[in-house]
Amino acid sequence: METLFPAASTASTTSTAPDVGYVHGYSTREAARLGDQADVLAGLLHSGTRYPDGSRVLEIGCGVGAQTRHLVAHSPGARLVAVDRSAESLAIARARLAEHAPGAFVEWHRADVHALPFAEGEFDHVFVCFVLEHLADPAGALERLRRVLRPGGSLTVIEGDHGSVLFHPDSAPARAAIDCQARLQAAAGGDASLGRRLLPLLDAAGFTEARVRPCTVYADRTREDLRAGFTRDTFVAAIASVRAEALAAGLTTPDEWDLGIEELRRTAVGEGTFHYTFFKAVARRPER
Ligand SMILES: C[S@@+](CC[C@H](N)C(=O)[O-])C[C@H]1O[C@@H](n2cnc3c(N)ncnc32)[C@H](O)[C@@H]1O
Repeated sequence: METLFPAASTASTTSTAPDVGYVHGYSTREAARLGDQADVLAGLLHSGTRYPDGSRVLEIGCGVGAQTRHLVAHSPGARLVAVDRSAESLAIARARLAEHAPGAFVEWHRADVHALPFAEGEFDHVFVCFVLEHLADPAGALERLRRVLRPGGSLTVIEGDHGSVLFHPDSAPARAAIDCQARLQAAAGGDASLGRRLLPLLDAAGFTEARVRPCTVYADRTREDLRAGFTRDTFVAAIASVRAEALAAGLTTPDEWDLGIEELRRTAVGEGTFHYTFFKAVARRPER
């Protein structure tokens, strides 16, 4: 028999997978960055995602609960099961939900997407945000997620694509810094440009009725909220966070790196502009 835990309760540990392979790491600063990112993008990314009361929803790769908070706010009657392979992130997620949505019922599991402790067809819906781009086998992960969906159940997946970055003033060092982060992500098995591949990945994993929608963020001096919340605190912060790894890997020098980050920050002040596109897909498990 299954137990649903209130947001503030103890998580269930169903795997002992180590916390490895996530390019941005699991620091306090990264937890704050994920929260900023989810909050500033909530209107853009969660629009249209509402789950019926009583439906069973799996969030895979919930991290520190940054998206979980918005899932609960948009679908307060759904029965949410949130999974991540990081015990530390799950602890932060539980505390975040206890603070922001104390009445929410969320069941927490520590597990790897490739070894999910759930039965075939157990969920009505699956939600995945910014996870596939960190996996070496995203198609395999999608296949496993298809199996835990009931026939006709839906999967929603949101991923970024660093190839969509456009900014002014243009800067070769800034572009080089972004490329360093993408190369580190690739070395860890991920793909910073996965967004554009969502449709073929969903097709290969056996989903049907896949539809992909680009979700564009554009920030200039008329949108100081997006400049601060997205360009500076989400995107530039994510690139800046891999400085030590980029230097250790010999991908850049301290001077080149620091200039690149400084010039990226210039896109969020004065006449600077910044553009990024996320891709949001919804698909179904075939009825038979
Ligand atoms: C970029 S964070 C995104 C977290 C959250 N979805 C959000 O948008 O704030 C990626 C998360 O995926 C988790 N993750 C990575 N690989 C995983 C795997 N194989 N199984 C389960 N979780 C995984 C990481 O631990 C991390 O918390």
